[in-house]
Amino acid sequence: MNPEQTSQLRGAQGRHITNLRVSVTDRCNFRCIYCMPEEMTWIPRGEILTFEEIQRVLGIVSRLGIDKVRLTGGEPTLRSDLPDLIRMIHAVEGIRDVGLTTNGFRLSTLARPLYDAGLRRLNISLDTLQRHKFHQMARRDAFEQVMEGLWEAGRLGFHPIKLNAVTMRGYTEDEALDFAELARERDFQIRFIEFMPLDADGIWGPESFVPGQDIVDRINAVFPLEPVSDNGPEPTTRFRFRDGSQGEIGIIPSVSNPFCESCNRVRITADGKLRTCLFATTETDLRDSLRNGCSDDEIARRFAEAVYRKEPGHLINQKGFVKPERNMSRIGG
Ligand code: GTP
Ligand code: 5AD
Ligand code: SF4
Repeated sequence: MNPEQTSQLRGAQGRHITNLRVSVTDRCNFRCIYCMPEEMTWIPRGEILTFEEIQRVLGIVSRLGIDKVRLTGGEPTLRSDLPDLIRMIHAVEGIRDVGLTTNGFRLSTLARPLYDAGLRRLNISLDTLQRHKFHQMARRDAFEQVMEGLWEAGRLGFHPIKLNAVTMRGYTEDEALDFAELARERDFQIRFIEFMPLDADGIWGPESFVPGQDIVDRINAVFPLEPVSDNGPEPTTRFRFRDGSQGEIGIIPSVSNPFCESCNRVRITADGKLRTCLFATTETDLRDSLRNGCSDDEIARRFAEAVYRKEPGHLINQKGFVKPERNMSRIGG
């Protein structure tokens, strides 16, 4: 049976919710221009969910049908003892898939303990293959350190390794082919993510936006591509190389071709708020329920009710769009 059909969690419009993204910290060692401001105030530590609280929530929601979890940040590897959390999540019955989205900075030393804890699915943010541009985009001169982490992850055998490049005008276009070559050489899935209005400095707009299809067209002109037909509920539109090469190209066209009607995911922020859409303007406080003696059943009910009210979709580029108060690093990507 399709696991999608076993979820008791129905969002409005009949969407089956099986995928939970858990942010484990809002802190980050980079300051990517599409995500964070230069100066950031961190959420106080006492307000961040403990590993035990995260494990309890996952135990509750896995019984409702959540079977796929992705850990996000801020930068999740800044959370101490992250491999312990991976082990704790693997111990939760019903969770069949755990992934991590990281900026890669700490992977050269942390990849091994994460792998030993059972992690396999790794998404690494890499917006450029040029050191000076990396410095401009991440506002940190960390390109080489991230590449070391990436090579180490490849050596250890993480699979799949997906590279996330947020597309920005003036930054991405001239690197499309270099990324395609990297995908082919190393068997990576490179995904070009359309820049969404979740930055903190207000730089999103027609001048900074590049449609993902533009990047695909550039690659296709040199390395012909063909669509991968079975996309499933994931937001990525995937392409393989027609010449049979390893590696893949993908676009996450959140702005030019929104996939909200098939969205199967919800999020928990580091401070324990359930967000039923990336662009939600209201949240459900799970931390409060966890810390105020609510039973598992009560928390399950609150979760399911919130999911039932899941937003139909975002209104980017339409009248009525409201930018969420949280920027991306406080939501979790
Ligand atoms: P897997 O399918 O498990 O590999 O995860 P993923 O590809 O969803 O994870 P990742 O964290 O790498 O997500 C890539 C990016 O896609 C995110 O950072 C967001 O920019 C975008 N994205 C993820 N989920 C959503 C969503 O629900 N809505 C929109 N509009 N964009 C999303
Ligand atoms: N638009 C699109 N993707 C973003 N990310 C961060 N900010 C944005 C944004 N404004 C993505 C990055 C990173 C992940 C954590 O979030 O690709 O991989
Ligand atoms: Fe940090 Fe990731 Fe945001 Fe970059 S995208 S500032 S690495 S949280």
